[in-house]
Amino acid sequence: MAEFSIRRMEVGDIDQVLFVDKTCFTAPWSKEIYEQEIRNNDFAYYFVIEESGQIIGYVGLWIVVDDAQITNIALLPRFRGYGIGEKLFGYAMQYAIGNGASRLSLEVRVSNVVAQKLYRKFGLEKGGVRNNYYPDNGEDAYVMWVNL
Ligand SMILES: CC(C)(COP(=O)(O)OP(=O)(O)OC[C@H]1O[C@@H](n2cnc3c(N)ncnc32)[C@H](O)[C@@H]1OP(=O)(O)O)[C@@H](O)C(=O)NCCC(=O)NCCS
Repeated sequence: MAEFSIRRMEVGDIDQVLFVDKTCFTAPWSKEIYEQEIRNNDFAYYFVIEESGQIIGYVGLWIVVDDAQITNIALLPRFRGYGIGEKLFGYAMQYAIGNGASRLSLEVRVSNVVAQKLYRKFGLEKGGVRNNYYPDNGEDAYVMWVNL
């Protein structure tokens, strides 16, 4: 596989990120949400991963005092299965630790066993269920978390 680089997401990246989102999710976020997150949310940190100048995935997190939350992580399908998602998640986790977080949590669809397996590799455990969490199909979410 080629070289990959991770950097902060900028407003100019949003169109490429939306392409990743539409490819990966049944209920992708809107352009306005990303603009709001990047421009106005002081707690939000978004990173893209690039290959040869093309954005192939991203990860987002919120850090509020010592509490970090992964908002999303996604990778274009043809780049999956090579350890890139793990690299991206690890980057976000290290960023959270470096910025004073002592706990990391996230929500994940109960059906998304691939993502759950990735999160377990980083020590996250299921801490509860949010019923009817996803508006597109009413699916439940597991809350997963780890002490950092
Ligand atoms: C979740 C996602 C980012 C993982 O990225 P990836 O680059 O394919 O994952 P990696 O190759 O780094 O694999 C890391 C670990 O994830 C798990 N994993 C990855 N692909 C898997 C698969 N097909 N089946 C089961 N587990 C899998 C494994 O634990 C793997 O570790 P291992 O190789 O030691 O078994 C990617 O599948 C994705 O973008 N999915 C769609 C978006 C999504 O569901 N995001 C999560 C929203 S909460």
